[in-house]
Amino acid sequence: MSQYKMSRQSKQFGSYKNCFHRLFYRLKPSLEKYEQLVLKGRVLRPHYAYALLSAAKEAVLLGYQKISVVEFGCAGGSGLIDLEYISHEISQVLDIQFEIFGFDTGGGMPTSTDYRDLLYMWSEGEYKMDKGKLQKKLHHANLVIGDVKDTVPSFFNKFNPAHLGVILIDVDYYTSTKNCLKILDHDSSLYMPRVFVYLDDTFGTSKFTGELLAVNEYNQSNEKRKISIQSLLAEKNVLNVEELDFFRKEVLSLALL
Ligand SMILES: C[S@@+](CC[C@H](N)C(=O)[O-])C[C@H]1O[C@@H](n2cnc3c(N)ncnc32)[C@H](O)[C@@H]1O
Repeated sequence: MSQYKMSRQSKQFGSYKNCFHRLFYRLKPSLEKYEQLVLKGRVLRPHYAYALLSAAKEAVLLGYQKISVVEFGCAGGSGLIDLEYISHEISQVLDIQFEIFGFDTGGGMPTSTDYRDLLYMWSEGEYKMDKGKLQKKLHHANLVIGDVKDTVPSFFNKFNPAHLGVILIDVDYYTSTKNCLKILDHDSSLYMPRVFVYLDDTFGTSKFTGELLAVNEYNQSNEKRKISIQSLLAEKNVLNVEELDFFRKEVLSLALL
């Protein structure tokens, strides 16, 4: 019995049918079968699993033994708990290890007066973290507490992480996303050749506000590094996700660097 469990939040969204598929899978795990579970949306938090699995497969082909995964915006920590679980599942079928880092203020959404932060959707102080409680639930994920504008610039020096392969962005605001993307401002030796970037909040926004504005500005100011939106993976049936009501199909935007 593994010490890793999915978060209580994610467990609420699973159907019995998919739960049965996951239990059946556990009798004889394999990469091919896990990939099918992910592509058919039978795992919980399939968008995270898809990004991790895609990066892991590339990493193994390229001879990496360990890669890093960063979640920006952790709130109560359900995403980090799920990341530990998902990475453990992947490590059982692929020869790869993961280092996990979760960035958050710890005190919820920061103050903002910038309309591009979509302040009608989010409010200051929302999604506070109980750091002590979360720390007890985590096995090895690292918490990086503070505003991303302060924690991102020193991240590589401070933590010396394995090559960065996955960035999961869920900080809601344009300004916060813009500061998260500064993690891509460093020497290319620190990253996998392709970095999978998941954007949680592209739904209901335009390219003039929120996450999409931050991505557009990143692309405008970087000549050689680009984030290319691969949107609506669920709609295109790349991920035939049955349990996506909570996450909404449209938010499943994966960007490739
Ligand atoms: C929607 S919640 C994240 C939910 C989490 N990803 C999950 O799946 O459970 C957004 C989080 O982003 C964090 N956040 C927003 N702006 C930030 C900033 N500038 N620096 C650090 N954290 C920030 C907030 O503290 C909040 O916890």
